[in-house]
Amino acid sequence: MNVILLGPPGAGKGTQSKLLVDERGMTQLSTGDMLREAKTSGTEMGHRVAEVMNRGELVTDEIVIGLIEEKMAAPHGAGFIFDGFPRTLAQADALGALLARHGETLDAVIEMRVDDAALVARITGRFTCGNCGAVYHDQTRPTAKPGVCDVCGSHHFTRRADDTADALRQRLMEYYKKTSPLIGYYYAKGALQSVDGLADIDHVAQAIRKVLDKH
Ligand code: AP5
Repeated sequence: MNVILLGPPGAGKGTQSKLLVDERGMTQLSTGDMLREAKTSGTEMGHRVAEVMNRGELVTDEIVIGLIEEKMAAPHGAGFIFDGFPRTLAQADALGALLARHGETLDAVIEMRVDDAALVARITGRFTCGNCGAVYHDQTRPTAKPGVCDVCGSHHFTRRADDTADALRQRLMEYYKKTSPLIGYYYAKGALQSVDGLADIDHVAQAIRKVLDKH
């Protein structure tokens, strides 16, 4: 089964992807995570990617499609969760072609509906385990023991360079201009399902399960 989680920054795509990986053994393909890895590579490409991401703009289609292509060709679990990809119509067309080349289908595109006011609070309160990547929030999803990751016990946490009010404004603008047209694109293909992304994490997970269990 292959599924796209579609939604603006902070909609909860990463949080729900990790739950699906644990529950269903699927493989999460997050272009944001891949690009953050590239940022730390010390290469000229990594440096250019860092500048674009820190401004809250989109990295070129060519780079992200190349990253996805590489990961899809590697050994993987029981289907893909595309998290933060595709983000433009060109990326959506490229994904369709890649899935066809691998003899795979796209089973669902799940739009996570949220409003901008909630996103500011979500983004500014987010922190991530620097060791295993588990995602937390100061108010809505703190660690059980302060300063200790629930998943791996690490004491090392990070906050993202693009989780500032200015960069978020730009990220939202990019979403509405370049990514939101994908809602119509997938609706026209009969693949679009929507869930209420403003519900608490467990209820969003339940709604996503309900969609996936139909396939
Ligand atoms: P990326 O890393 O994909 O970031 P994003 O899309 O902006 O999404 P986020 O990771 O910020 O949010 P999320 O929806 O995953 O929310 P999360 O679960 O963490 O991309 C970063 C940058 O990389 C882009 O700006 C661009 O430059 C580049 N890029 C990436 N992909 C690209 C592409 N395809 N093409 C071009 N450029 C690309 O949740 C957020 C917080 O809220 C957490 O603290 C969480 O605990 C909390 N939370 C989650 N769900 C709930 C809930 N239901 N209730 C309360 N709190 C919740």
